Amino acid sequence: MPEMTELKELLKHELGDLLYAERRFVTATKAMVREAQNPELKARLEQHLRETEGHIERLGQAFEAIGEKAKAEKCPAAIGLKEEHDSFKTEEKPSKQIMEAFDLGSGLRVEHYEIAAYRTAIAIATAMGEEECAAILQENLDEEMEMASYLETNAVELLRPLAAQQA
Ligand SMILES: [Fe+2]
Ligand SMILES: [Fe+2]
Repeated sequence: MPEMTELKELLKHELGDLLYAERRFVTATKAMVREAQNPELKARLEQHLRETEGHIERLGQAFEAIGEKAKAEKCPAAIGLKEEHDSFKTEEKPSKQIMEAFDLGSGLRVEHYEIAAYRTAIAIATAMGEEECAAILQENLDEEMEMASYLETNAVELLRPLAAQQA
């Protein structure tokens, strides 16, 4: 591979990494929807699953905004986040309640990865004067931040029934 010297190439790489990660997170979120016991959590995850499908669409538009064709770049971090979820399940053999509790952390890890990646891509696009691209990415970022905030705000309430049973 020749040396990468252009910010535009870096931005394309970041968008491609996000495209790959979002596709992986569709599968990961489907697993979390199946594993959720609390109906409100299940509904919120289903909502975010639909949002995630929208993020993939918007990433296509972000590529278009910079005059490029959408191309995914393998994202080892996204693969690792999914693997961590799957290996917990096979190695620890958690009860349904413990798996749901673990998923609060899996979900939050995924959202924070996405938040970091979108903030980076937005900073690059903004610095380059690619305002349309930055605005599209911001819409995705806003939904990731809302999901992270839901998980952070509701974790204790979601965990309390299990904690109370075991007190
Ligand atoms: Fe997303
Ligand atoms: Fe997300």
